[in-house]
Amino acid sequence: MCAALLFGLVMAPGAVMGDEFETQTADQARLANLVLQDCGSCHGLTLRGGLGPPLRPEDLGGLQVEAIAAIIREGVPDTAMPPWKPLLSPEEIHWISRQLKSGALVSP
Ligand code: HEC
Repeated sequence: MCAALLFGLVMAPGAVMGDEFETQTADQARLANLVLQDCGSCHGLTLRGGLGPPLRPEDLGGLQVEAIAAIIREGVPDTAMPPWKPLLSPEEIHWISRQLKSGALVSP
């Protein structure tokens, strides 16, 4: 009984945090959609740029995942780039940053 309780705690969703965090598949689909629709409204629906600069991996070459996450979190002052921390969790922002770096959300 004790072991079962422990197992339940270890397996509880949300128990895994930090770099090991992996968003659930449904969340990932929601986030991918948000990136293309909301971020895409400024950065282009294919992230090739618009009001905001393009966000393909080749455009972000000089920026590490952490730097991209910081920009998404805080925004860029005095530009149209808004801070996303009121809307997205740190894990969601980190996931988006990794997708932008890998180009997984952009069709070739
Ligand atoms: C209202 C328009 C707008 C929206 C919405 C927006 N951005 Fe931006 N973004 C900008 C602008 C403008 C810049 C350029 C700021 C500057 O001049 O440095 C920028 C810059 C960036 C940069 C830095 C790019 C670089 O090469 O320096 C990243 C990364 C970025 N945005 C990611 C995102 C993500 C991810 C989202 C969605 C969660 C998003 N943006 C939504 C307008 C927007």
